[in-house]
Parts: sequence; structure tokens; C-alpha cells
Amino acid sequence: MAVERSFVLLKPDAVARRLVGEILGRFESKGLKIVGMKMLKVTAELSKQHYAEHVHKPFYPMLEEFITSGPVVALAVEGPQAISVIRAMLGSTNGREAPLGTIRGDLGLSRQMNLVHGSDGPEAAARELAIYFKPEELIGYSTSLDPWTCAGDEK
Ligand code: RTP
Ligand code: MG
Repeated sequence: MAVERSFVLLKPDAVARRLVGEILGRFESKGLKIVGMKMLKVTAELSKQHYAEHVHKPFYPMLEEFITSGPVVALAVEGPQAISVIRAMLGSTNGREAPLGTIRGDLGLSRQMNLVHGSDGPEAAARELAIYFKPEELIGYSTSLDPWTCAGDEK
């Protein structure tokens, strides 16, 4: 089982609603490790890079307006199968439909303002991490809690 790194973005609504600590806490409590973190404002150019697959969709102008509207927190998050684990933790896109127990299902009511982005696969994770972080901004480290994350043959 692969230890993976996923890219996570706490969107402007998460910062504006003071939910950064709550959402970070969920990833930490799960046993995932934060290996990169910064606050920034997404520019229109960065939005087009990040959401390249959506640029030509009808909802893109609204998405760009939203994602550039205030500060965001970019994260690199590491753990066993972190990419799919994080997608499951987020829940489906629309907060009104996402199951209770997920971040979007518990904390939101919107399709657009759904609090968190998480990479949807290994290629997206690599691409998005490279967009938001320089290699030296990602910091791998070990702690005494690591042996309690999962058994050796699960890593
Ligand atoms: P994300 O990429 O942000 O993790 O979200 P996702 O995979 O669940 O959803 P995706 O289809 O990739 O859409 C990207 C973001 O665009 C906004 N959206 N608006 N108005 C609309 O129809 C619409 N559809 C999507 C959401 O902010 C969504 O997270
Ligand atoms: Mg997506």
C-alpha cells in the first residue's frame, strides 16, 4: 500500500467561516500528516491552471470569482492511500447531498462553496502540488506517533 501525498485547498469559504482549524483537525485526527501548508490568494491565472479541466465549462466564471475572492490555505497531506482517503473524507461535491460524517456533509450547504478541494488521483496530486508548492516547501518528517498510524505491512 502506497504512502501518498495529496494536494488539499481550504477554499475562501473555509477561511471566512473560521473552519480552518476544524478541517485541519479532521485530517490530523484521521492520522494524516501535514507536510506543507501556506496561506495565499489565488489569482485568476492560478485558478485557470488549477481548474484547467473546468475552464471551458459554463460554471467556470463563477468558480474563478469564488476561488479568488479571499485567502485560501494550501496543504500537502501525506498518509497511506491519502488521495482516496481524503476524497472520501470530503464527501460529494454538493454539501446538501454529501453524507453526514463527511466534511462537506457536516459543514456546508453549497455546491460551489464546498469548503475544500482534494486531488482526485495520483496525476492530479502531482500536478497540483507542483503548482502550489516549490519542492523545498514540502517537508517530510518522522514522529514517534508514526508507528501507531497503521501496521508496517499496510504502508
Ligand atoms: P474539487 O475539484 O474542488 O475538489 O471539487 P470536486 O472534484 O468535488 O468537483 P469538480 O466537479 O471538480 O468541481 C470543481 C469545483 O467547482 C465548483 N462547482 N460549481 N456551479 C456548478 O455547477 C459547479 N460545479 C462545480 C465547486 O466549488 C467544485 O468543488
Ligand atoms: Mg475536482
